[in-house]
Amino acid sequence: MTSPTTSLTKEQIAAFHREGYLVLDAITAQEEVERLRLIYDRLFSDKIGWASGNQFDLAGTDEGDQATLPQILGPSQYAPELKETRYLRNAQGMARELLGEEMLPRNGEHMIYKPPGIGAATPWHQDQAYHDPTIRAYGVNFWMPLDDATVESGCLHFVPGSHKLDVLPHHSINHDPRIHGLEVDDPEKWASKGIACPVPAGGATLHAAFMLHYAGPNRTDQSRRAYTLAFRLPPDQRETPIDNYWSRNQQTARAERAQQANR
Ligand code: NI
Repeated sequence: MTSPTTSLTKEQIAAFHREGYLVLDAITAQEEVERLRLIYDRLFSDKIGWASGNQFDLAGTDEGDQATLPQILGPSQYAPELKETRYLRNAQGMARELLGEEMLPRNGEHMIYKPPGIGAATPWHQDQAYHDPTIRAYGVNFWMPLDDATVESGCLHFVPGSHKLDVLPHHSINHDPRIHGLEVDDPEKWASKGIACPVPAGGATLHAAFMLHYAGPNRTDQSRRAYTLAFRLPPDQRETPIDNYWSRNQQTARAERAQQANR
């Protein structure tokens, strides 16, 4: 069995900065993957965070139909044992190798689940299209599947070098402002340059901020569970904010629940 990667080679660090992504065969032990699957399944089947808008359907309207791309934001607030994982420790160490000592101590995290047979595609996008348009923040995302991620089950695809772009225009999935998920405009243009990155359970793909990425639908009869950790450098204020009309125009059930919960 491959032993988990705990630090990166000079070549890997250079490749990350040049291409914007890396693929690792293992980032944690298989015992931990097994433990994480139980936590993961519990969080989704209990609909943890639904009422506060932290669980929602990334690809749908949340109107009672079955979620085809459920997502949980900040899962460790509901399962504190997630703050003590080997995955987190290893990712944190490698993120510091990539970003340097200025890296912010607090990391982001989310889980995206593609149910067997019905899991929807995660369209081509940059994560920064979702973020605060007044700042620019560099960083790295670790994406660890808890099941072998293949092209058929929905592994990630990247456009090499696209992390050097700024935020491109995006729109809501299906141009439906009730849907939280975003897609870059002209996705076909990027799809033709995409590289699929299959990775085994407990392995990981790493991608730099601004990287264009995509994951296909889950056409298999197996789950495709993935757990993302995000590390950031302190943000710079932009002189001119990005005009993110795609977010301003959204009206999602998720945002409504979050507002209700904060009232
Ligand atoms: Ni993304």
